[in-house]
Amino acid sequence: MELNRENILIVDDDVHILELIQRHLQALNYHTYKAISVKEAIAILQDKSIDLLITDLKMPGVDGLELVKYVSEHFPNIPKLVVTGFPSIDGALDALRSGAMEYLTKPFTKEELKTAVTKALKEQPKKVQVASNKTEDKKAYGELIGQSPAIKKVTDVIDRVKNNKATVFITGESGTGKELVARSIHYMGKYATAPFIAVNCGAIPENLLESELFGYTKGAFTGADNDRNGFFQAANKGSIFLDEIGNASLATQLRLLRVLQEKEVVRVGSQKVEPVDVRVIAATNVNLKDLIKTGRFREDLYYRLTVVEVEVPPLRDRKEDIPLLVNKFLFKYGVEFKDKLISIAPEALTALERYNWPGNIRELENVIQRSVIMCDKQVTIQDLPEQLKYTIAFPEESQEFLSLKDMEKNYILKVLEATNNNKTKAAKILQIDRKTLGEKIK
Ligand SMILES: Nc1ncnc2c1ncn2[C@@H]1O[C@H](COP(=O)(O)OP(=O)(O)OP(=O)(O)O)[C@@H](O)[C@H]1O
Ligand SMILES: [Mg+2]
Repeated sequence: MELNRENILIVDDDVHILELIQRHLQALNYHTYKAISVKEAIAILQDKSIDLLITDLKMPGVDGLELVKYVSEHFPNIPKLVVTGFPSIDGALDALRSGAMEYLTKPFTKEELKTAVTKALKEQPKKVQVASNKTEDKKAYGELIGQSPAIKKVTDVIDRVKNNKATVFITGESGTGKELVARSIHYMGKYATAPFIAVNCGAIPENLLESELFGYTKGAFTGADNDRNGFFQAANKGSIFLDEIGNASLATQLRLLRVLQEKEVVRVGSQKVEPVDVRVIAATNVNLKDLIKTGRFREDLYYRLTVVEVEVPPLRDRKEDIPLLVNKFLFKYGVEFKDKLISIAPEALTALERYNWPGNIRELENVIQRSVIMCDKQVTIQDLPEQLKYTIAFPEESQEFLSLKDMEKNYILKVLEATNNNKTKAAKILQIDRKTLGEKIK
């Protein structure tokens, strides 16, 4: 029999149907993943390379149609096959047709399923064309969202290092995604099945870091009752991520230098050398050159660590990625907190695009998380934290200086526009009463 290598994701809240479809597909030699909710399906989509989505429509919580929309938006190359009980009654038929996808009505025979699956997989010429390239990309940066030239530079470096063991040094402001980049380097490459160990050198007390990293022998210090492996031994054949490397003591730095130069470790309390085969990825958001000047960081180690350097750009330098990131977080927290999809009003998105994001992606994620909790169905200006509301009145790019009066006038007009001329809402945002607003409008 011909071997079908496609990965098919089946989503249905009914376990019996899930298993039935799975059995049929396995008999046809497809590889299958199962999810009993949209939430689970999303997790699989983000993690695995899926070639076809088969989903039920009516499911509790977030329903199948929303999953279809999500997949169309985020994974446009994945064909969709909808399995539905009563397409006309569900009123979903038009939606399905407009989405140009296959559907199958329950109950169906094995033959009907086979035909629909084959058709759905075939009828995606786009997918076939880009298969070698684009799908690979999707899989590769799974979570690392962005299409800006600034982030493209980062993904280019990931590509160049993921399949070798070059030491990588990641810099960037707090919250820009340094750890995510480190994980991508490891998990996208050919050593992905080996361990990835992340160590926050700033969070482990200085006197413990050395033995935690390199292990120790029995009796090395009070309390060392046994020989113990360190993170380096645990990460053997894989990668170790040394976050906040600037916090490592000089003694630890010396041992690190040895790992990088000789590919061997020496446990605390021992003289014996042990070979290790570990890729080192280090990160910092302080300037190591300053630490070198004051004698707190070894210059030789610095040069060993910085064989390949990646600078993760601050969010303000890649504002074109904001809508993509916002969508990702809206989906994530919409499903988590509200069990539904939350959208964002255009003015609110504009406010997010204008803001400077000193806390970068972590701050953006927090803002969206909070706004999803605050809002009803849609995130509006009112749901945003104060500092973001101001961006509407004071667009960064504005170079001209206005009088206070004009400024006030512009701001009021903007707020009115943002609230669709709802004076009650506008007055609330402006924190003045309706009457005062009315007078000002006049
Ligand atoms: N490109 C991206 N796409 C999607 N999510 C991202 C991206 N970059 C970062 N994130 C998310 O933003 C948050 C912060 O990222 P991360 O922890 O990697 O930042 P960091 O640079 O290590 O920050 P710090 O210096 O404070 O440790 C994480 O939740 C991460 O998943
Ligand atoms: Mg970090």
